[in-house]
Amino acid sequence: MLHKCGGAPLAIITMASLLVGRPVEFWSKVYNSIGFGNEDNKDVNNTRKILLFSYYDLPCYLRTCLLYMSIYPEEHLIEKDSLIWKWVAEGFIHEEAGVGLYEIGERYFNELINKSMIQPVDSHPYDRTITGYYDIITGCRIHDMVLDMICRLAKQENFVTALYNNEQQAYTVHHNVRRLAVGDKNCLANTCMPQVRSFNVLSSDVKLPSLSCFQVLRVLALEGDTSSEHDTTCLEHLGKLVHLRYLGLRNINISELPKEIGDLKFLQMLEMKDCNKLLKLPQSIGQLSQLKCLRVYADRFSMLQCLEDTALDWIRNLTSLEELCLLNVSESSNFVNDLGKLTELRKLCIVSLRLKSASLIKDWEESLDKLQKIQVIDIGWFIYKEEGDATYCREGYAPPRQLRVLHMQYKQPGLPIKISPSLQPNLSHLSLQVNALDVEIFGRFPELVTLQLDVNTYHYDVTGAPGAFPKLRAFKTDGTPRFLGVMPNLEYLEFVVSIMDLNTKPDFGSLVNLPMLQRVVILVWYNFNEFDSEEAKDVVREAIFSGPSGFTFELKGWQC
Ligand SMILES: *[C@@H]1O[C@H](CO)[C@@H](O)[C@H](O)[C@H]1NC(C)=O
Ligand SMILES: *[C@@H]1O[C@H](CO)[C@@H](O)[C@H](O)[C@H]1NC(C)=O
Ligand SMILES: *[C@@H]1O[C@H](CO)[C@@H](O)[C@H](O)[C@H]1NC(C)=O
Ligand SMILES: *[C@@H]1O[C@H](CO)[C@@H](O)[C@H](O)[C@H]1NC(C)=O
Ligand SMILES: *[C@@H]1O[C@H](CO)[C@@H](O)[C@H](O)[C@H]1NC(C)=O
Ligand SMILES: *[C@@H]1O[C@H](CO)[C@@H](O)[C@H](O)[C@H]1NC(C)=O
Repeated sequence: MLHKCGGAPLAIITMASLLVGRPVEFWSKVYNSIGFGNEDNKDVNNTRKILLFSYYDLPCYLRTCLLYMSIYPEEHLIEKDSLIWKWVAEGFIHEEAGVGLYEIGERYFNELINKSMIQPVDSHPYDRTITGYYDIITGCRIHDMVLDMICRLAKQENFVTALYNNEQQAYTVHHNVRRLAVGDKNCLANTCMPQVRSFNVLSSDVKLPSLSCFQVLRVLALEGDTSSEHDTTCLEHLGKLVHLRYLGLRNINISELPKEIGDLKFLQMLEMKDCNKLLKLPQSIGQLSQLKCLRVYADRFSMLQCLEDTALDWIRNLTSLEELCLLNVSESSNFVNDLGKLTELRKLCIVSLRLKSASLIKDWEESLDKLQKIQVIDIGWFIYKEEGDATYCREGYAPPRQLRVLHMQYKQPGLPIKISPSLQPNLSHLSLQVNALDVEIFGRFPELVTLQLDVNTYHYDVTGAPGAFPKLRAFKTDGTPRFLGVMPNLEYLEFVVSIMDLNTKPDFGSLVNLPMLQRVVILVWYNFNEFDSEEAKDVVREAIFSGPSGFTFELKGWQC
């Protein structure tokens, strides 16, 4: 079999995924079906044959989902969530009682990874900071040869038509195209496409046709990569796309969505990313009773203007929502109360949540209590302030058992949250503000992979019984911890060292308890009235060299 693969890694991996767990008769069948070629480029040809064999070995539903991925160009980082919602919109996911469509789609995605048809990508693959240690797979890539294969097949079957280079500019789109993907500087301005059910634009330079020329569109993705001239005019006639399930807008220069969006009765996914001029969302979104995913977010947060507060009253209507991501929510809306009505929520992300009274915090906790399916809670900035002496005596919110990710950065410490290894056994990513005395408990979460703790004191001890922190790979904190117990799998560590005079040397001896440590980032706080950042870093560098070794480190200066 190895010989058949001609040493080509992709062929070997694909072959292995094809054969694992199959009876020997199947092996001979594969062996006999893949012939040796005598051509010069026989490895390429053989790899192609192996890939094709693996493709036809997939169940039918997976073949469809894989073929659909020919809408993406080479080297493209495909976002998992967006892909799965497109599959849902296209009707590729077969319903099963009691399981959400997204979850079934996620299973398909994992099966394609398992068959080596797509390559998984972790979040933030390029900067291995703490977020790089999420073992949550957020995307994938397709090997060029797999892409080449599915593009040929998709073209043969008139399944997808992809226009990804300028040579095809003059291409006249056939009237029977069913799914169209466009990049580069193609011009479709005067094209009419009554049969197209999926229209994906992955460049900001494409000249778009009028939406009035589509009649059966289910997926509309204007997902250009840079800020574009695409503005409100490209959304004219949006309300006529009554079959639309998926609407994805990126880098579109709009301040408002057309209110006709309320007419899209079947819409399931609405995403607006990096639409930096966006000021408000129309009330009519409240009519989208099928909406399962609403995301308004940005990679470049600093460029954003604020969404108006009062614009969120409609959210209580969206009772089918499974995922909600918003930028900035503040107390004047009824948001925290309405949140409790969204009982299907699996994932809640808010960049900045501002609650100014004790009673609102109580409402917030009561609402969260009603979200019994929630798995991810990610609040970037949780800002709260209590009025006068009216301290509301809180029990603390206890998240449900299936919680996997909890990020809550409070501006002020002290808001309790009830978590424990027995209450939330699957918790794998945690970011919280805590009391130094409570740090020990985190060693007992069996699935914890990343941990970020803001602690109320500079120097504190991280202890842990034998077997503590079994899976922890990344730890970040705003203090100077001393590791008294072993963290057997920790690879990444980020902490703060404060240098107030040049004669007091920090002691990094306890890092010896981190046997797998690979990378350390230290934020050096220094007294800038007395000396400069380089002098402070020298002190830290010297201390590191005289301590345990085996890892790379990076120092960042910070005035105080
Ligand atoms: C590869 O296969 C194709 C057709 O399947 C054939 O035409 C070609 O000669 C083969 N060899 C090379 C080197 O491409
Ligand atoms: C992947 O394949 C292996 C071997 O067939 C199987 O044991 C495993 O359960 C599969 N995992 C998923 C997520 O499908
Ligand atoms: C965005 O639209 C505004 C007015 O609608 C215009 O002034 C501005 O130049 C546009 N920006 C880009 C990048 O096209
Ligand atoms: C909420 O839903 C009700 C009933 O479907 C509808 O009458 C109302 O207009 C909706 N509210 C908003 C703000 O869209
Ligand atoms: C959130 O909105 C409030 C009120 O509109 C504004 O004052 C605040 O600066 C915004 N916060 C962020 C982080 O954008
Ligand atoms: C924890 O995760 C496992 C594997 O995904 C799952 O089978 C189990 O039901 C989860 N436990 C809880 C309490 O959600």
